[in-house]
Amino acid sequence: MTKEEARKRIEELRELINYHNYRYYVLNDPVISDAEYDELFRELQKLEEQFPELITPDSPTQRVGAPVQEGFKPVRHTIPMLSLQDARNEDEIRDFDARVKRFLGLPMDEKIEYAAEPKYDGLSCEIVYRYGVLEVASTRGDGFTGEDVTPNVKTIKTVPLRLIKNPDVPIPTYIEVRGEVLMPKKEFEKLNKELIAKGEKPFANPRNAASGSLRQLDPSVTASRPLDFVAWGVGAVEGLSFKTHDEVLKALGKLGFKTANPTVVTKGIEEIIEFYKELEEKRDEFEYELDGVVIKVNDMELWERLGTTARSPRYAIAAKFKPRQKTTRIIDVVYQVGRTGTITPVAVLEPVEVGGVIVSRASLHNFDEVERLGVMIGDKVLVQRAGDVIPDVVKVIKEERTGKERPITPPKECPVCGAEVVREGAYYKCVNASCPAKLVQALKHMGSRRALDIEGLGEKTARLLVEKGLVKDLADVFYLKKEQLLQLPGFAEKSAQNLLDAIERAKNSPLARFIYALGIPNVGEYTAGVLAEKFKSWDKLAKATYDQLISIKGIGGETAKSIVSFFKEERNLKMLEKMFAAGVKPQSIEEAPEESPFKGKTVVFTGALSSMTRDEAKALVEKLGGKVSNSVSRKTDFVVVGENPGSKYQRAMQLGIKMINEEEFLKMLREAGVSIT
Ligand code: IVH
Repeated sequence: MTKEEARKRIEELRELINYHNYRYYVLNDPVISDAEYDELFRELQKLEEQFPELITPDSPTQRVGAPVQEGFKPVRHTIPMLSLQDARNEDEIRDFDARVKRFLGLPMDEKIEYAAEPKYDGLSCEIVYRYGVLEVASTRGDGFTGEDVTPNVKTIKTVPLRLIKNPDVPIPTYIEVRGEVLMPKKEFEKLNKELIAKGEKPFANPRNAASGSLRQLDPSVTASRPLDFVAWGVGAVEGLSFKTHDEVLKALGKLGFKTANPTVVTKGIEEIIEFYKELEEKRDEFEYELDGVVIKVNDMELWERLGTTARSPRYAIAAKFKPRQKTTRIIDVVYQVGRTGTITPVAVLEPVEVGGVIVSRASLHNFDEVERLGVMIGDKVLVQRAGDVIPDVVKVIKEERTGKERPITPPKECPVCGAEVVREGAYYKCVNASCPAKLVQALKHMGSRRALDIEGLGEKTARLLVEKGLVKDLADVFYLKKEQLLQLPGFAEKSAQNLLDAIERAKNSPLARFIYALGIPNVGEYTAGVLAEKFKSWDKLAKATYDQLISIKGIGGETAKSIVSFFKEERNLKMLEKMFAAGVKPQSIEEAPEESPFKGKTVVFTGALSSMTRDEAKALVEKLGGKVSNSVSRKTDFVVVGENPGSKYQRAMQLGIKMINEEEFLKMLREAGVSIT
């Protein structure tokens, strides 16, 4: 590239970056993903490195972040809050390690001690404590000056208002604690549901939710939002000193903060890379959104020697995970029919790699969502992937419309069977009870891990079974023959036998799973568990009345209605009969009376009983929820002493275990409702 070409591109990039900064920080409404922004930024950085004479003081690379917004008092940071350079893969992490050594003049085979911890995707914040008392809290702002958000930060429960006195770390006279304000992922989802219910705009991700909640002029709004603070470092400190970064985190923990966790400290970069890979794999399991791992030289004396560039320190790097958001275009919208007949609009996308997976479809959920997003076919959209689920469309980039976009129209008929559709709330539903699409989904549901756990009965097989006419209702699965399976594409002797074995095992599933597997509308895993617990056996559940159901805690009117109508439907009853005839036998829950004096008790018998045999007595105790043991121990609750007791009697005396005679034992049985003559 010539210098002239570089100058042109640099100008273009600066203008773009400034625009996206404005969208992000001022409007809180970005139109590209973070990764795409980073891409632009890195390109500009690279060009400026190549042609340093083209750097100007107003280049976006020369400042760190967001300007202070109107309404907040500015707070100047004693030590600038810089940002970190990124590494996007293992090689770039090794490059960082090499850079550190080169800068320190160390040989390449030297092993530097590094500390690593999660990079939290939140809003960075600095909290100042003087003599242990919270004085002022500020956002990062542009890195030099942030916004005074003290009253808001004080509402966060995990921010100590006073540092905690402890024997290991003295309270410093002055300390600036730095960390991330975060909203836990679960709370974020809950908040969004509430916002949608109130007709307000939901947040795009937990970070925006944290930022929007903290930067409120009215701190009572902040107080109502479930925010957390996790500390990852310090700014200026007086009256306390640290040698290493991991000492800093430990001290902050003792002073009362939640600190970055998990952490590792190792010699050399390779183990840090392992940590990075492990965390990326487990990122969905964490309470907060993580977008990478921060790697820091552990020895803080080296920090001084390494120094900083204009924008970021040389002692640390942010090793980013693969981005989960990307922009792409909607080529078309298709309709998917679920097991209850619900028709879901699904966007067909120009394929794009998101977080290491090629994505070509995203769910639009329902028509309320289509309306809320204002999405059209042909739109450029931001898609997001979380865990293994089908990606979502987060927002539409309306600025990029060309006028050729087409509206998404609701289906006029079921895309699979052509039957009529009706609108129910936000959803369109196929009215045809025997729509093959419903059966495929119902089969897939019945076979799923948390239902009957029939390995091999996934969507593909379910579709084949329905298409070939081998399965016309759920019960048919239990009549499948090996010869039939062998006719299906992809099935061989072994896979057919495995599927049949899995079906055989499924016949004796626990009651709760069986109930869940039937796919009764409104009966999810939780409700199925409640029903099993309450009714204990299938026969009792099948006879339950609306009033009985509604009186159960956790079961509402809608659910009760749908259970009753499930058992009224002739087709369902026939299907169940057919299942039971094939040997399906859901496992009942053993009954133990609520008020049994034997419930959870361990009982030992010694000597002969005159009213019954030992075996009869044992069976009764077990039926009443107790356990019978052959020897006396400290765990024994009481000993029933009959005639001519043996050594167990002595032992019970020694241990001071409660003893009762036959008369008292019979009395307890009567109390538990056993009739004894
Ligand atoms: S250390 C000089 N540690 O990531 C900056 N930062 O671009 C030292 N962040 O603005 C930052 N988790 O808001 C550090 N464990 C962590 C972090 C972390 C999240 C944020 C922080 C910073 C940005 C770096």
